[in-house]
Amino acid sequence: MDRESRYQNILITAKSTLDDYSMDEIGKMTVMAAILKMEFSEWIFCGFYRVIKPNLLEIGPYQGNILACSHIAFDRGVCGASASKKKTIIVDDVSTFPDYISCDEKTVSEIVVPLIKNDDLIAVLDVDGNRVGQFNQIDQFYLEKLVSYI
Ligand code: SME
Repeated sequence: MDRESRYQNILITAKSTLDDYSMDEIGKMTVMAAILKMEFSEWIFCGFYRVIKPNLLEIGPYQGNILACSHIAFDRGVCGASASKKKTIIVDDVSTFPDYISCDEKTVSEIVVPLIKNDDLIAVLDVDGNRVGQFNQIDQFYLEKLVSYI
């Protein structure tokens, strides 16, 4: 199945699941991480870092085999860069990213998408891949759409 079709499946599942149940943001993040990882089982990590105080992210609901790092300041790593700029960041090769925070040596590419509500940053969605250049504009388009459901 191609990438777009996989995301189309996820959109249908996510919309119906999130519409059917009453959940707070953490519940929705939990469901979203599970739905994404179920479809894209090849991803190494897929989950949220939540803003818990100014300029600080804390690990939130995620799927993956790794012990993710617990806290990330806005001036560190890909997650911090996405949080401070409030923009999606795609890194084709993490070895080229200054101040990259490595949580799993198998990760070679990454996409981080901010979750913004009423102009406030709530969290970032972080996805780690095992191939160089794994993420592109299709991932950006659909992941930005999916986080808007939260
Ligand atoms: N690589 C991220 C840290 C989080 S882990 O990948 C789960 C970063 O540089 O912000």
